[in-house]
Amino acid sequence: MHFQTFTKEYKEPFETYLIELITNESQTVIEEAMCYSLEAGGKRLRPLLLIALVKAFKKDETQAYPFAAALEMIHTYSLIHDDLPAMDDDDLRRGKPTNHIKYSEATAILAGDALLTKAFEVMTDGTCSNEIKLLLIKELARSSGYEGMVGGQQADMDGEHKQLSLIEIESIHSRKTGMLIHFAFKAAGLLAKVDAETLNDLNTIAKKIGIAYQIRDDILDVSGSEEELGKRVGADAKQGKSTYPSLLGMERAHKLFDDQLNEALLLNRAILEREENYDEELLDSFIESLKLN
Ligand code: IPE
Ligand code: IPE
Ligand code: MG
Ligand code: MG
Ligand code: MG
Repeated sequence: MHFQTFTKEYKEPFETYLIELITNESQTVIEEAMCYSLEAGGKRLRPLLLIALVKAFKKDETQAYPFAAALEMIHTYSLIHDDLPAMDDDDLRRGKPTNHIKYSEATAILAGDALLTKAFEVMTDGTCSNEIKLLLIKELARSSGYEGMVGGQQADMDGEHKQLSLIEIESIHSRKTGMLIHFAFKAAGLLAKVDAETLNDLNTIAKKIGIAYQIRDDILDVSGSEEELGKRVGADAKQGKSTYPSLLGMERAHKLFDDQLNEALLLNRAILEREENYDEELLDSFIESLKLN
């Protein structure tokens, strides 16, 4: 199945599931602020990837929903906080005013906190075995925290107005963006109960796509448009961020980006050689869809 076809079929039901986890009849301000950012129209790449991968291994994909929702909640919280004046100070996200512009800084901080904590409650409703559930909760906690996304965000800020090495930038990317994407792969592998070798391949693919996704974001911050991205462009240069394009220039940044994706495509083929029931087109077409021209 093509990832685009999958998205057409699954995006809407997933979004309905996601929003219903929070909304009730008499919405409080905090619920409203949480839903405002959740409903603002993200691409849902992380949760859709998780669900798609479970399906690609021909396993029941509905068991992935609570983990996919938790992942999207944590990603959305990370964006709300990323946009705060104390961080990237952005006023546009997902095509709408950022959470702190729409509500207030205090409410944006709390909406982020509430999405983060709700994510962990939601995962406890998972229908998989308690053993896998526990592993996934631990994994998402680690990927989101100081060893993962939060640590990467701190390093990203510490790196502002500095000339970092390629290794340092890669380390930032792999944490601030890579670790949450990595969770999608790891969770899918565990839920689909794939063998150790396949889990290992998924792990390597995840690392490459995680870094590639942030390089892509950094390239688009230079060459993309506000309408297409739903957020301000040129924000990285304004903030003195260390990015692949700022360190290497556009051409080499593109080359490194393509290399990551092509390596990921090759590994995906290796999985197919081992797992004959594996629908490699889902991940293959997802990776292809990330390519820039
Ligand atoms: C934006 O992520 C921030 C990064 C980590 C690169 P997305 O580009 O996936 O944002 P949404 O979820 O579609 O808004
Ligand atoms: C954001 O990186 C990463 C996280 C939110 C964890 P960016 O700061 O580049 O994301 P955008 O460009 O604001 O979406
Ligand atoms: Mg940032
Ligand atoms: Mg930002
Ligand atoms: Mg960016």
